[in-house]
Amino acid sequence: MNTEIIKIDKVKFETKELEEAINILRRGGLVAFPTETVYGLGANALNEEAARKIYAAKGRPSDNPLIIHIADKDALNELASEIPKVAENLVEAFWPGPLTIIFKKSDKVPMSTTGGLDTVAIRMPEEPISLALIKESGVYIAAPSANTSGRPSPTKAEHVMDDLNGKIDMIIDGGPVGIGLESTIVDVTSDIPTILRPGFITKDMLETVIGEVEIDQAILDSESDIKPKAPGMKYKHYAPKGDITIFEGNLEDVISQINKKAKENVLNGIKVGIIATDETVHSYNYGIIKSIGTRKDNTSIARSMFALLREFDDLEVEYIYTESFRDAGLGQAIMNRLLKAAGHHVINA
Ligand code: TXA
Ligand code: MG
Repeated sequence: MNTEIIKIDKVKFETKELEEAINILRRGGLVAFPTETVYGLGANALNEEAARKIYAAKGRPSDNPLIIHIADKDALNELASEIPKVAENLVEAFWPGPLTIIFKKSDKVPMSTTGGLDTVAIRMPEEPISLALIKESGVYIAAPSANTSGRPSPTKAEHVMDDLNGKIDMIIDGGPVGIGLESTIVDVTSDIPTILRPGFITKDMLETVIGEVEIDQAILDSESDIKPKAPGMKYKHYAPKGDITIFEGNLEDVISQINKKAKENVLNGIKVGIIATDETVHSYNYGIIKSIGTRKDNTSIARSMFALLREFDDLEVEYIYTESFRDAGLGQAIMNRLLKAAGHHVINA
């Protein structure tokens, strides 16, 4: 298949630039497009055949359900069979934006989109290209992250090309995304709303609007055998080819431990990558040293994490050593992704 690539300026574009993408979606094809979180791989959510194509292109397990993207809050009435009051409040506060909400599904939503579940994940993105694409096509767009299953989520069109060129109809290049981590997922079908995947919208932010919120136990306790409530969270994910180790503890100790490990390996001819920060990047002496962002602003770290993991892939490093970014708030989402990428390999420095 020939994958068409079009460039669109997300600040100033005209609807007619989306015409071909709209046609592809209407006839059941696949279009990758930017959202504010990561690039998505879109298809008509109500067309079983189109949804199935997504799984094939990504190599995604068929029990892993898709998020449906809408451009208008009223679409909820069509896709969800029940809209609890807390959900109304969340929609009011956070849509459009990086929040996915799990509802009981309506009969309109095919099982091929929900991976056989009777619930459905819905989100209204904020990014102008994605909103226009949904609105103008009149199609509800099912879209997982536009990566090959198991690879880091794409935050630039180039990442999508690396993974899916030749497998999908079109890639819309709208430049790098703003957030860089996938949306927060919250389930409102349980008594107490539950976070199934941490993201840019934090537990605190949700609680300010709806009161008590829980976090899926399986996410907090990575060692446990509890099955995560979001099927996708159980898969080894985001994993680069290099073996990642996270170093935790006092920053000075972390730096000295990483330097020691890096030196050992580099002197043995082994390629090592180091994930540092703007504050620490000059403290390392061996290996390929890259800053992920500044500790003064967590959003900078979130934005470059997946891209950095892909860069180290391209450089074919064998080991990646990284500092830890644990804290409340956004740190929870960052560490959730990093721990998965590292297969939970953590060393206490
Ligand atoms: O930011 C995002 O959410 C991006 C952009 C493209 O919107 N999309 C995204 O999709 O991250 P994906 O498919 O990579 O992740 C969707 C997650 C998976 O972990 C899946 O298991 C979970 O959402 N999910 C979808 N429907 C669900 C449902 N009905 N119940 C529980 N989890 C669900
Ligand atoms: Mg994904």
